[in-house]
Formats: sequence, C-alpha cells, structure tokens
Amino acid sequence: MNPDHILAASAHPNPYPYYAALVAGPALVFDAPRKLWIASSAACVKEVLQNPVCHVRPAAEPVPKAILGSAAGEVFGHLVRMNEGAKHDAPKLALQRFLAATDMPRVQQRTEALAVSALGNDSLRGAELSRWAFEVPVMAVADLLGFKASELSQVAGWMGDFVACLSPLSTEAQLLAASDAAKALLARFSVLARTAQADEKDANSALARVQFEAGQVGWHNADALLANLVGLLSQTYEATAGLIGNSIVALATQPGLLETVTRQPGQLLPMVQEVSRHDPSIHNTRRFVAQATQIAGVPLQAGDAALLVLAAASRDPVCNPRPGDFLLERHGRDIPGFGQGAHQCQGQMLAHTIAAAALKTLLGSGCLQQTPPQRWHYRPSVNARIPVFAD
Ligand code: HEM
Repeated sequence: MNPDHILAASAHPNPYPYYAALVAGPALVFDAPRKLWIASSAACVKEVLQNPVCHVRPAAEPVPKAILGSAAGEVFGHLVRMNEGAKHDAPKLALQRFLAATDMPRVQQRTEALAVSALGNDSLRGAELSRWAFEVPVMAVADLLGFKASELSQVAGWMGDFVACLSPLSTEAQLLAASDAAKALLARFSVLARTAQADEKDANSALARVQFEAGQVGWHNADALLANLVGLLSQTYEATAGLIGNSIVALATQPGLLETVTRQPGQLLPMVQEVSRHDPSIHNTRRFVAQATQIAGVPLQAGDAALLVLAAASRDPVCNPRPGDFLLERHGRDIPGFGQGAHQCQGQMLAHTIAAAALKTLLGSGCLQQTPPQRWHYRPSVNARIPVFAD
C-alpha cells in the first residue's frame, strides 16, 4: 500500500514504488491539501536547488513562530542551513574549510573507541540498538569539537531535546525542553571557544580552527558562530542516526551483504554510501519562492513552497541506473540525499566516516550476526527515515 500523502512517505515501510510513480509523472505537481509543489525527478529537484530565488525559509517567517524569541529560535535564526546571502555565504565557507581539513582517520579511530564504549558488554538489540545509533554520531562530532569524554552523553541528551524544535510534529513541552538544551549548549560552547582562544597550546583544537577560519572569511559574529557549532551537532544527529539505522536494515535485508562486509570491513564505506543513495535518511527538503520564477517550465509565484523529494531523485534511473539494486560498486554514484547547490551538505564525508566506523564496531561485536534485527518501524517524521528496532 502506498503512503497516504507525500509527508507520510519518509516513515512508510516502503515508499519507493510511490516515489517511482512520482518520478515517472509530471516534473512538478501541486499537492493542494498541503499547498506544496512536489519535485521528484533528479532534474527537477536539482533545478530547484540551483535556482537562486528558491530560498530555504519563507520570507515572512525566517524563524518558525513556535520558537521565535526562545533560545532555540536564537540558534535557528543564525544557522547557515536556514539563511541566504550574507548570513549564509561567509559562515558556510568557514565551516566548509574547517570540515574539509578534518582528520578523517582520527575521526574513524575516535568513533570506533566511542562506539565500543557505548556498546557496553551486552549484545545490542531493539531499543538499545536504536539508542546506540543515535548516540554514537553526535558523541563523535562533540568529541571532534572538543567536549570532554565525561560530557559526551550529556551533549547527546541535549541534542535529542534540541532537534525537537526543528520538527513541526513537536509538542509545547518538547519546544520548552529544546530551548533549555539550546541554552545549555550555547553556554558550554562559549566556554570551549574562550578556552581555545586563550590557550596557545590549543591552537590546533577544532574550535581554534573554526575561529581561525571565521576570521579568515571576515565572519566576526561570535553569537552566530556559537549557534552554528550547535548546528553542526544538530545536522549530525538524526541524519547520521538514520544512516546507521538504514545500514543495519540493509545488512538484515540485502542478500549476502552482512557476510561480505564482515569478511571485508573495507567495504563498509561504499556500503554506507550506497545506503545514502538507496535508502537515505533525509527524504525531502523544502524551498520557498522569493520572487516569480519558472521550474520545469511551470510558473511559480512569490510565496509558493516546494517539497524536493531527494529520496525519489536518488532512485531516478537518469541519475543512477538500476536504481532499485543495492550495489557496493556503482560508477558515478549520485547521492541527492545530501542536497546540491548553495546549501549542499558539508558533512557528507564526516557522516560516512562516522557511520562506517560505528558499523565496523557493531560487526566486530558479532551481535548483528548472532541476532539480526527482524522487526522495525520508522520514527514519525515528515522528512527523515530513521528505523526504530523492536525489542
Ligand atoms: C547522513 C548524514 C547527513 C545527511 C543525510 C545530511 C543531509 C543534508 C542535506 C540534505 C542538507 C541540505 C539541505 C537543503 O539544501 O535544504 C544538509 C545541509 C547541511 N549539513 Fe548535512 N547531512 C548529514 C550529516 C551532516 C554532518 C555530519 C554535518 C556536520 C557535522 C552536516 C552539516 C551540514 C550543514 C552545516 C548543512 C547546511 C549547509 C548550508 O546550508 O549551506 N551534515 N545536510
């Protein structure tokens, strides 16, 4: 059975036949009940992502009303992900240079160590496996940013609370908790940033490097910098947990895959890349038309909103031949699930490194081989695909 509507697709057991039908249909269709133009083919999704008048936020609501005036709203308002122009370009360049210079072999090694300690002694399954998939990536990025080992699980907890402010499905209580978490994270990052500045020995620390890159591009807004450090953790949190979870699903369902990667852990990196292509964790993103334009020959007006179905574009045969097949070796693999154009994800390499390292640890523990997960459903979400494993 198909999902009831496009916003129910990312959490549906198998939305891919529905996506294939969308890709085979008109380039842009209007979903009247949700007031959204839907773009699903690779060409149309990319056309919107490249269009400079298609913005990440509606002009009338740069910060969602539900969090305006709160600490969570303060963070949201500074995020490169949520801004265009001056509040986007220089900060983006600084973060991009910082992430591009990250020592990936070290991240891999640190993630493996964190993943082992988060595993504990027991064989992970069900809710514990889901918790582990959430905690490891955010702890790995917090570790990279300079948090002490003793703080990592607290940071993961704050992040769990904070990301609720990004979801339209959140309750009032969740929004309050998100603001408390935003305050705590900003305060902690502020101390880390001051320490990195003051301590010359720390000149190679991640925060010293981010501050250096910010200075180089003329980004001198300390509050925005702190907010975007919180942003690095929030961009990591659900998306990378979903990537790890969807990889576990692939290991449980793709014939021969578990045996192959157990024998050859070097195949884990291409495996997570193919999961990002075949069953990605972020299924869609939105754009808001700032002035009249045309997409695929269809006129759009200022104020119109578009939903770009990245997960459908990934399965467009024009973008990836034999799209339904899970192939470790795929020539020119195209992964729309990390976006494209001005707002393209800067964390793709980091996310893949962390996910592959976490999965290597999981396979090393033998728990997937002993008791592969048999049942799961997907967390309620309008854009993310994150499996919840049943006990
Ligand atoms: C599997 C994991 C991830 C996925 C699927 C993912 C996906 C995405 C997507 C689709 C966008 C663009 C959204 C849009 O254009 O509307 C994005 C932006 C972004 N991502 Fe990721 N991401 C992941 C992990 C990460 C990580 C680990 C980091 C860094 C620590 C990161 C940092 C960012 C940033 C800073 C942006 C905003 C870029 C901008 O607006 O210019 N992401 N991500």
